[in-house]
Amino acid sequence: MAEIRRPDDMVRITTPELAEAFIEEQIQAINEQVGPDGKVLLALSGGVDSSVCAALLLKAIGDRLISVHVNHGLLRKGEPEQVIEVFRNQLKANLVYVDATDRFLDKLAGVSDPEEKRHIIGNEFIEVFAEEARKAEGVDFLGQGTIWPDILESEAGIKAHHNAGGLPDDIKDRFELVEPVKILFKDEVRCVGRALGLPESMVERQPFPGPGLGVRCVGAITRDRLEAVRESDAILREEFDNAGLAGKVWQYFTVVPPFTSTGIKDGKRCDDWMVIIRAVNSVDATAATVEEIPYELLFRIRDRIFKEVKGVNRVLYDLSTKEPATIEYE
Ligand code: XMP
Repeated sequence: MAEIRRPDDMVRITTPELAEAFIEEQIQAINEQVGPDGKVLLALSGGVDSSVCAALLLKAIGDRLISVHVNHGLLRKGEPEQVIEVFRNQLKANLVYVDATDRFLDKLAGVSDPEEKRHIIGNEFIEVFAEEARKAEGVDFLGQGTIWPDILESEAGIKAHHNAGGLPDDIKDRFELVEPVKILFKDEVRCVGRALGLPESMVERQPFPGPGLGVRCVGAITRDRLEAVRESDAILREEFDNAGLAGKVWQYFTVVPPFTSTGIKDGKRCDDWMVIIRAVNSVDATAATVEEIPYELLFRIRDRIFKEVKGVNRVLYDLSTKEPATIEYE
């Protein structure tokens, strides 16, 4: 198949009308590629790119799209539920939901090296998805939410884009790739997602690392500390939403390091976790500045964390820019 590239003079998709035209064009292209009976398998993470890719494929081929949502146990609070609600219940997609939480957390138990953690999460993800792919008989195509910057970055040798490269040979060789949002920039993907009727919370989602909350539960992941990360992150996101900061601040999240500090609760000593709040602005993640959150909002978040999150006696606000810090903690 000829390599599809973004034409140099392509009009930037910024309006619902342009998005509609793109959608119609892609529906036709998808149908031409997969034919009248072709089935497509897609790993649907719930991120912007894979969600828009899934919604587009769904519109083109309906239940001949099989989406697989793997919950690795490191997703944010409410994310798997939202994927199921939007794709299975609202859009009536053929969605396979795999709760692989125990598998991932068992493999990660006791592993504190950040790169080893990433490696385990990446490998296990491929393993779980490959198992589903082997079950999917009569499927010849693999859908992927590759976008134009992924192609540019991989061509420039900056990073290998998340393509089928990591899949075992028996899977890789079996499928032909379908990449309907490949020529789009991120803002265009969001515009197309809106035109396809995806909820704003999905289309405007902040960047979220593949290893998920795993890189924010610093060191060896334990279930209790992971819950502290997940619950505090949910509080932070809710309060940012209420304060009108969602969509304005580039990325915000909480981190829980693997050590306790002394505190006092009900007159008794307690050695509990600490929650670190991080809120940064960036253009392309290569550098970041710190958002100036009003103290009033910080205090409200602190109070809710103390009240609602188990095992926490301290809340901190990270003032570090990138450089010298990175955005994530590991
Ligand atoms: P750092 O921490 O390097 O992060 O300043 C830059 C941006 O990349 C995201 N990030 C990741 N994304 N897999 C991903 O898909 C990863 O392992 C990963 N690590 C960091 C991070 O959230 C930030 O937006």
